[in-house]
Amino acid sequence: MKICRSIEEMRAACLDLRKAGKRLGFVPTMGALHDGHLSLVRAAKNSCDAVAVSIFVNPTQFGANEDLAEYPRTFDRDREMVEKEGIALLFAPSAKEMYPPGGTTWVTVEGLSEKLDGRSRPGHFRGVTTIIAKLFHIIEPDVAFFGQKDAAQVAVIRRMARNLNFAVEIVACPIVREPDGLAMSSRNRYLNPAQRKQALILHRSLMRVRELWKAGERNAAQLAATGKAEIKKESRVRLDYFEIVDPDTLDAVVTASDGTLVAVAAYVGSTRLIDNILLQST
Ligand code: PAJ
Repeated sequence: MKICRSIEEMRAACLDLRKAGKRLGFVPTMGALHDGHLSLVRAAKNSCDAVAVSIFVNPTQFGANEDLAEYPRTFDRDREMVEKEGIALLFAPSAKEMYPPGGTTWVTVEGLSEKLDGRSRPGHFRGVTTIIAKLFHIIEPDVAFFGQKDAAQVAVIRRMARNLNFAVEIVACPIVREPDGLAMSSRNRYLNPAQRKQALILHRSLMRVRELWKAGERNAAQLAATGKAEIKKESRVRLDYFEIVDPDTLDAVVTASDGTLVAVAAYVGSTRLIDNILLQST
């Protein structure tokens, strides 16, 4: 596994792979890797000839009051984890390398970026689309892999790739969960044991909605009300949003149908967690 710290090095290494006729897969991450990240790496390995992973805690996607300073940085462990997966390239640039002075150009998917997490985290998706556009230009992958865990991020990146004609296929991979249902997240390590238990309410609320859907309920307001009521049962958890939306436009739907996205975000202590399901009739 080659570790690249500079853009120039990474660009050259990716070019070599593509010149050798390899189908290049790319998995962007912010490190603090867990099995959710590794599932993307494995999906990439399964469908590509060579895989590049990036580890970069992207400062521009964090709000002023968010956890940029505390965000877990576990590079040595991360490097070992991806090395074991047999990937070709690890890109781990510094913030200075990615954002030298004079950076005044931003990539924004208007509209979509203000929905779901974008509404609660102004500027967040602008940071995500800007860094992903930069990484796509450096790496020029054939396929890029993202987790369905960040469902709004998938919608925003798909739209960006389409609108800006990136020649990259965007693949969304299923959410990887802990045995008790909690969606894996780098932020779960912020939770103390009591909060770790409280955090289960996110998944439980989604399961309640799925039960109701399976019993035939299609009214989105009714489904959302049930999800919200479930979250309320855990008095220490503060709901940010509970929404029933179209997975591509992120607009609220009136009637749920096959493929509708049910997304929840909530604060457990000061930790903001997200989770979601796609409703499926089979
Ligand atoms: P990060 O939170 O490190 O996540 C990297 C990728 O792993 C994302 O596509 C995310 O959806 C996926 N992922 C995280 N937890 C997952 C889980 N439990 N199951 C499946 N996939 C999971 O998302 C980001 O970083 C950043 O915004 C980034 C795209 C790298 C841009 O900076």
